[in-house]
Amino acid sequence: MDKKAIDWSNLGFGYIQTDQRFVAQYKNGAWKEGGLTEDATVRISECAGVLQYAQTCFEGLKAFTTKKGNVVLFRPDLNGERMEESARRLEMPVFPKEKFVEAVRQVAEANQAYVPPYGSGASLYIRPYMFGSDAVIGVKPSEEYEFRVFATPVGPYFKGGAKPISLRVCDYDRAAPHGTGHVKAGLNYAMSLYAIMDAHKQGYDENLYLDAATRTKVEETGGANFLFVTEDGRLVTPKSPTILPSITRRSLLYVAREYLGMEVEEREVLLEEVESFAECGLCGTAAVISPVGKITDHGKEILFRSGMEKMGPVLQKLYDTLEGIRLEEIPAPE
Ligand code: COI
Repeated sequence: MDKKAIDWSNLGFGYIQTDQRFVAQYKNGAWKEGGLTEDATVRISECAGVLQYAQTCFEGLKAFTTKKGNVVLFRPDLNGERMEESARRLEMPVFPKEKFVEAVRQVAEANQAYVPPYGSGASLYIRPYMFGSDAVIGVKPSEEYEFRVFATPVGPYFKGGAKPISLRVCDYDRAAPHGTGHVKAGLNYAMSLYAIMDAHKQGYDENLYLDAATRTKVEETGGANFLFVTEDGRLVTPKSPTILPSITRRSLLYVAREYLGMEVEEREVLLEEVESFAECGLCGTAAVISPVGKITDHGKEILFRSGMEKMGPVLQKLYDTLEGIRLEEIPAPE
């Protein structure tokens, strides 16, 4: 299939409307079959649950073109499972993961002309999402929902591409103890907008959020999890009940352990120990691995040994190995 005339290598992380999207509706206690449509608009009640009380969750995954020209997805089943969990926590009906995977496949296939070519560094970002669509004025779950999937070709999440970014330790909290921080809910991202605009005004690319209860432990940024590499080459990532469990992180921990023979620690990470790490990066579907060069903690600058020019060697090796597996150049685990 001919690819669209897009400048693939210069894509940022933005929205480009593609040809087909998947829509399924939930009414009278059951999901309808659903299917593809060319209509990119959503028509819902002015009083819809999503508009009034933010009853919505979403997922993010990517499709790639391999060297042989095939379009491949990476573990969509894991996104389907996570969305089931999100739906339960937000009192929404579960969209079964088998149907989720099938909808994602249909959207990737129908928009093949938008899957960036091999070697462009870009990918087709696929966004499944679900929201309460009928009128609710009292605070209660909607009775009707839409599950949708659209796709858009994207480049790197951060403007500089592979250039290390700088973060600041944030005075706002992202997630409350016993709250919804671990859920891929739109509301978690809405409440980070003020903090991220404030970070940009101060010259930082993103915020490092601390745990709200003690403000001593590293949690995550607004849209990605942390990875740290110790001086002796161990991979460390924060463990906390209030962070969003990234599927990319899960894969990277596996790759580090099983492919690169690294020691991996998923544990509490204190802010005060961050300066002891050799490398730092952010990981997620959108971020993949984005290197962090500097973290500023209220005037105190923490500069990682890997510097502000390129990704550190250990994270680069992890990145290359994961990309190799995703592009079917390195054998996937059994
Ligand atoms: C993703 O990585 O897919 C996300 O959902 C994060 C978002 C900030 C784009």
